[in-house]
Amino acid sequence: MSRDMSTTDDQVALVRKILRTEQGLEMSLPELAGERISVTFFRPDIVRLRISRQGKFEKKPSYAVPDELGQMEPARTRIEEFKDRVLIGTDAMEVSLFLDPFHVEIRRNDETPVLVSPRDEAGRPWFYRKEKEGFCVGRVIERQDGVYGLGEKTGSLNKNGRAWKFWNTDVLNPSVAGGYREAPHENPLQDPTSTQFDPYYVSIPFYLHRPVGSSLLTGSFFNNLGRSSFDFTQPGGAVFRFESGAYEEFVFSGPNLPEILKGYTGLTGRIPLPPLWALGHHQCRWHDYNQEQVKALGDKYRQEQIPCDVLWIDIDYMDGFRVFTWDKQRFPNPPKLLQDLEKEKFRLITIIDPGIKEEPGYPVYDEAIRERLVCLNRQGQPYVGQVWPGRTVFPDFTLEEARRWWGRLNAEHVQAGIAGIWNDMNEPATGEVPAEDMQFGHGRDPHARFHNEYALLMAMGTVEGLKKAMPEKRTFVLSRAGSPGIQRYAANWLGDNCSRWEHLGLAVCMALGMGLSGQPFVGADVGGFMGACSAELLVRWYQYAAYTPFCRNHNAAAQPDQYPWSFGPEALSLIREALQHRYRLMPYLYSQFVIASETGLPIQRPLALGFSQDLKSWEVEDQFLLGEHILVAPVLAAGATQRTVYLPAGHWYRWPDGTYEISKGESRVTPVDLKSIPVWVRGGAVIPCWPEAPLSTMGYHPEVIDLHVFLPGEDGSTESTLQEDDGLTVHYQMGKYLRTDFRLTRAGKQISLVGSVRGHKFPEFRQDRFHLHLHAPPLETWTPILLQPSSEGFATVPRGEDFQIEFGRIG
Ligand code: GLC
Repeated sequence: MSRDMSTTDDQVALVRKILRTEQGLEMSLPELAGERISVTFFRPDIVRLRISRQGKFEKKPSYAVPDELGQMEPARTRIEEFKDRVLIGTDAMEVSLFLDPFHVEIRRNDETPVLVSPRDEAGRPWFYRKEKEGFCVGRVIERQDGVYGLGEKTGSLNKNGRAWKFWNTDVLNPSVAGGYREAPHENPLQDPTSTQFDPYYVSIPFYLHRPVGSSLLTGSFFNNLGRSSFDFTQPGGAVFRFESGAYEEFVFSGPNLPEILKGYTGLTGRIPLPPLWALGHHQCRWHDYNQEQVKALGDKYRQEQIPCDVLWIDIDYMDGFRVFTWDKQRFPNPPKLLQDLEKEKFRLITIIDPGIKEEPGYPVYDEAIRERLVCLNRQGQPYVGQVWPGRTVFPDFTLEEARRWWGRLNAEHVQAGIAGIWNDMNEPATGEVPAEDMQFGHGRDPHARFHNEYALLMAMGTVEGLKKAMPEKRTFVLSRAGSPGIQRYAANWLGDNCSRWEHLGLAVCMALGMGLSGQPFVGADVGGFMGACSAELLVRWYQYAAYTPFCRNHNAAAQPDQYPWSFGPEALSLIREALQHRYRLMPYLYSQFVIASETGLPIQRPLALGFSQDLKSWEVEDQFLLGEHILVAPVLAAGATQRTVYLPAGHWYRWPDGTYEISKGESRVTPVDLKSIPVWVRGGAVIPCWPEAPLSTMGYHPEVIDLHVFLPGEDGSTESTLQEDDGLTVHYQMGKYLRTDFRLTRAGKQISLVGSVRGHKFPEFRQDRFHLHLHAPPLETWTPILLQPSSEGFATVPRGEDFQIEFGRIG
């Protein structure tokens, strides 16, 4: 793969020793007390930089990059030595290691900068400084530049101009934050209910950088999940400070955003394809329901004809908050409840927290202690925190045997037919007892080493247990906390929010940031968790959430009701309508999940992902793309009568009414009333829809799929995708799916639609035909040539076979 080291005339052989490694090099750094730097290309456009710690490189600094993913793809590398630096490059970029003072510079082969070291006060460039147990690194990021990603963060889409912390935190309970604990303050950065609060539940030290005025992006992922802070407020450049561990960074030279995201998720993983029902509407509430009330809740949903797939039960279903138990009084017969719910096409999900009640005689506790599966304190005794059941011990998920045990308990728990698992309090939240005392690995590893990865490891144990017990079934786990790679196991909801308009707005940028950080399966508590929701807020929240990857109403204990029917018939009917849009759109939405599972691209996307050359689209923070073709501009303000919407340059159809608009890339003001959900579809798109909105996805297998074909107003080709499969099992991995790739092309007076089919289909239900619904630019009438309308009056195309349709213009 690699060429030999070359030395040309004007280069001077260096005194320092350079060791050639596979697709990289290692070199000593005398100015860093003999530490070494290692440079390894994982792909021509992805390089890993590491600096040793006490002479050693850590083999596995975290669980972010599993062995099976952290594989190098071939990259031809060349090394050159100059007087002042050593250069190692590929076809995509060059890494220069400057020697005195030591600093790093990375450029693409066209010379555009990827990473430039900043200068200190004396004007000397610097890159890395050792500090106590940790270190910091710096680089030039100008204040006007764009910085995106960083996982679950508050504030704007652009994260520049603020300092951020990475320490998974139970937001609404600052006393359990376990770090960075500060007294409640007037400073919004410290008010846990403000839209600026930091840190949050999920820590993902991955960011994208876009120099001002440029559409060229770079990415950086720090594979160090200890406590850290990223400061984008310093005049000399950004400073990233890690309190422990070694420096390991993956730099992605881009410059194209999808390639960076594919590269990042190639390392840290992508979502497994979720079961279809997980894309449905979820009803959750922290409330002490009993079995009859849960059933009655389902009945009410059906009576009101509101689409809903899943009911969730919170901590009160347990016996005294003991995990893996049921309160026998309230839930005398869980299997019967599951059967009753299934009749009404509901699934049930239960919460499972990590905290285990400290109580000899409680089998889960006894086994955990006997088998030495719990975290210890600094004295070597089981660490005891204070959570829902009172004194609580915590499984040590860094131990493989603890993960295996936890997986088995989860599998046994769901066996009666529970559909999925909800993991909460996994920052870990430890109540009034500081988390720092909690040690891992039988006391070997300090808390900070795995604090941020606790949720990932918990989800890993859960999923592996479920898969072992039910290898054919797809899993669904929802997690509150997370770290890079959490997407491999769980979806994330955006934690405890408030029933306030600004929290609805917060949900948009936060979801976009998660999507840009490798986690596409996200959504906020619809209606807001804390506080009293209003009719208008609930309607607007549903109208937004109907177009987000995860859509779950959730409400805290003792808060006023916020069921879809809680605010009277008008609100109810608008909510029903919004959810019906979602359910009709299910084939499209599901296909976007398929794309996310294959590419790592987000489902809820910033406009710039679809329109990267349009620099204005990076400024849009209150709109998003749902997948490839749908633009959503949710109404986020109380009493709104109009909405300013930015449409990137192109041809757009308002959905579902079909009004056609041409944009040169400008904002327009759209009038809105309470019914309005401003949504547009790109000209050229093919949007597959269900012919109606079922009340549940369970058992719904329509023979017909409606294909909404948005004829392009200008020349060009657009691709769209539909995947169908059983929606429940992993059989699609063995080819049991039906994939139709559409290509809609316009060349002047000719428009054609080509459908190419892949996959072996699947026997469970019929995939019969498509009904075409044409949407045409104004003053243009088109008709499919040689297609006979069906008895229903639709132009019909057989589903499951390749096809090509030519459209003829008749007006
Ligand atoms: C936490 C969760 C919330 C849940 C509650 C009770 O606050 O974030 O969703 O309802 O605990 O389990």
